Amino acid sequence: MKKKRVIILGSTGSVGTQVLKVIQDQRERFEVVALTGKSNLELLQKQAQVFFPKAVALADEGKAKRLRKSLKDVQVYTGEEGIIKLVKSFPADLVFSCISGKAALMPTLEAIRAGRDVALANKEAMVIAGDILMKEARKRKVKLIPVDSEQSAIFQCLGAHKTSDVRRIYLTASGGPLWNWKGDFNDVLPEEALRHPRWKMGRKVSLDSATLVNKALEVIETSRFFNIEVEKIKVLVHPQAVVHSMVEFVDGSILAQLGITDMRLPIHYALNYPERRKSHLPFLNLTDLGEIRFEPPDFERFPALRLGYQAGKEGGTFPAVFNAADEVAIEEFLKRRITFPQITQLIEAVMKEHKNSAELSLEAILQADEWARRKAYELLEDL
Ligand SMILES: NC(=O)c1ccc[n+]([C@@H]2O[C@H](COP(=O)([O-])OP(=O)(O)OC[C@H]3O[C@@H](n4cnc5c(N)ncnc54)[C@H](OP(=O)(O)O)[C@@H]3O)[C@@H](O)[C@H]2O)c1
Repeated sequence: MKKKRVIILGSTGSVGTQVLKVIQDQRERFEVVALTGKSNLELLQKQAQVFFPKAVALADEGKAKRLRKSLKDVQVYTGEEGIIKLVKSFPADLVFSCISGKAALMPTLEAIRAGRDVALANKEAMVIAGDILMKEARKRKVKLIPVDSEQSAIFQCLGAHKTSDVRRIYLTASGGPLWNWKGDFNDVLPEEALRHPRWKMGRKVSLDSATLVNKALEVIETSRFFNIEVEKIKVLVHPQAVVHSMVEFVDGSILAQLGITDMRLPIHYALNYPERRKSHLPFLNLTDLGEIRFEPPDFERFPALRLGYQAGKEGGTFPAVFNAADEVAIEEFLKRRITFPQITQLIEAVMKEHKNSAELSLEAILQADEWARRKAYELLEDL
């Protein structure tokens, strides 16, 4: 049997390392063609020694030089340009997009333009430039397979149904690290906001879960991925995090996807798609679950969710601005320069100053992203 050739962008991150774990259990089915990271030289080196890729890339130029010395038979690329060159140069059946934040946009877009099927774990690229990614994918007959657990659930529930058959999407949310926080949000420390009760993830997505920016991003991601109006997407807080999302059809039937709270499950699905293969993962024991609860989200305590809906409805360059302001705010919070509530306040302040662009080209989106970052630093002083 011919092995599926896989490129993993962001292999040193939380999702990337889990993709490699799943591949490790099915080495006979997959060949790792290339791996990339930003600056984690040691881990990338170790991964290369285990999976023998043809090429690796590190965004950090200085560290890539050291990698070149240690990995003699592997082609080493550097910088964002290097990652893009790697994606274009090496034939692959599937590119896993696991880079965090906006940095994933161009490598993901170039993977699609190169005609590679893409398993999309990164959500920001779809939020910022969903229409462009979907259009390119259609044009090149590229399959986009969602990996984010909620999107994977919706994808599986939708199956062959048309979006016009959908009445509503129920996007579930665990509530994040601070859902049950009893104190004052002004007192929240970065380490507390990073401590997710259900998922072990990278820093940005963990903090985004604490503010509910993550769920806001997912509302936009869902609408762009499945071509469904933002108004039809309802967030439900579901602390047990076993129902990964649901689709309600126009006839009143609701389909849900359940599974263990473990990213290796949607990763396994995306790797093997369109097949269903036996996995090495534990199964969900339904009788052990006890109660399954759903609660409405709290827009008062977590106003970022409202801002995300607003950005998604406005469309245009607003989602890019929402995300860029958040990326700046998170870094400032981690450096303890702003408080937890100020993350959302900064996003709101930047959004208020933004004039939407009618033109939705890649250039317009990238310009809006840059503008929002500059504006966020400017407005920091006024918080
Ligand atoms: N973690 C989860 O369980 C989970 C679940 C669903 C969706 N997601 C989504 O998946 C994406 C990745 O999340 P994660 O938790 O895996 O993040 P992470 O642990 O922070 O890993 C990010 C990866 O991207 C690389 N990277 C970061 N900035 C880069 C840049 N400028 N250029 C090139 N590479 C860069 C990192 O390299 P270094 O390690 O060298 O810094 C690392 O390999 C996010 O969009 C997130 O929302 C994550």
